Amino acid sequence: MVIPLPDGLATPTLVVDPDVLDRNISQMAEASRSQGFALRPHAKSHKCAQIADRQLRAGARGLSVATISEAEIFARVGVDDLFIAYPVWLDADKTQRLRRLADDVVLRVGVESAEGAQRLGKAVRGSARPVEVLVEVDSGSHRTGVRPHAAGEVGKAAADAGLDVAGVFTFPGHGYGHDAQARERAARDEERTLSEAAQALRDLGIDVRVVSGGSTPTVGRWRPGEVNELRPGVYVFNDATQLTIGTCGVEDLALVAAATVISVPAPDRFVLDVGSKVLGSDRSPWVTGHGYLPQFPQGTITGLWEHHAVVRLPEGVRGPRLGSLVAVVPNHICTPVNLADELLVVRDCEVIDRWQVTARGANT
Ligand SMILES: Cc1ncc(COP(=O)(O)O)c(C=O)c1O
Repeated sequence: MVIPLPDGLATPTLVVDPDVLDRNISQMAEASRSQGFALRPHAKSHKCAQIADRQLRAGARGLSVATISEAEIFARVGVDDLFIAYPVWLDADKTQRLRRLADDVVLRVGVESAEGAQRLGKAVRGSARPVEVLVEVDSGSHRTGVRPHAAGEVGKAAADAGLDVAGVFTFPGHGYGHDAQARERAARDEERTLSEAAQALRDLGIDVRVVSGGSTPTVGRWRPGEVNELRPGVYVFNDATQLTIGTCGVEDLALVAAATVISVPAPDRFVLDVGSKVLGSDRSPWVTGHGYLPQFPQGTITGLWEHHAVVRLPEGVRGPRLGSLVAVVPNHICTPVNLADELLVVRDCEVIDRWQVTARGANT
């Protein structure tokens, strides 16, 4: 079992192993430090003040977040250096909120269009602290971000709007591909596109101080050079996707959903009281089932409803008894965390703490 579950646990609930969590945090901090990268972990994966504090104490420079509301919440609990790694489009409400943040903390924001940069420039004009921006570059995941050669145009618009253009960033989502070379390829794409984009800014006379990339799958594959900041998120807990693509081992899994067997309709099948409202429903096509079962590694969650997970076992494998506790490692940890009020911290089969998911649902 990854995290031995205390008897009598009220399920479903999310359970954290603090020792594995701390090891994941310190290994990432040490690896970044020894290779000369600044670490700015993505806090959307945990949304939790206690975990942010551990990351910062281990040496993280600040945090990355996905939304203004995540930034507001982490600022409220004392994090004073935040990067909204997202090309925020400012409506009237967001304009006001972003302006308040700019007055309160060291703030960095992603931009990927001239129009977005102009809105941002207007919003933060005259703020107590200058707002830095990083131009987002598409390194191959084809989500947001401009092609590297277009970074100059966006950077110039941002500078003209009065913003401090500090550099470039990318998210190499294609590193989650299923073939063994996907991670290596994505890491090289990241380095190449970020370098080109940084050069495009330098050609305009912009002093590029930050070249930021990273995802949990590509993070260990970087060669020190142009890139100088990492933003992995999932590594704090890891999940069934990371296990499938080989970025972590079973011993690195720091979070499980604890569930109870509520039905054993056949010897090769059992049902857990955990569904998409706890586990989320993310599932890459190459991940088998809706989660990994450390106690039943040959089992597959073949069906997921809102409150049920149906597990199939191969012939001859003995399943759990009705009423027993079963741990499920979610496919993608960021969604279950966002669905939970709290994380139970369990050591030696005892609940030693409860951490509120401080930024739960902070998605605006
Ligand atoms: C912009 C950005 N940076 C960093 C990350 C963290 O990467 P990972 O989830 O692989 O840890 C993400 C994840 O989606 C992201 O969107």
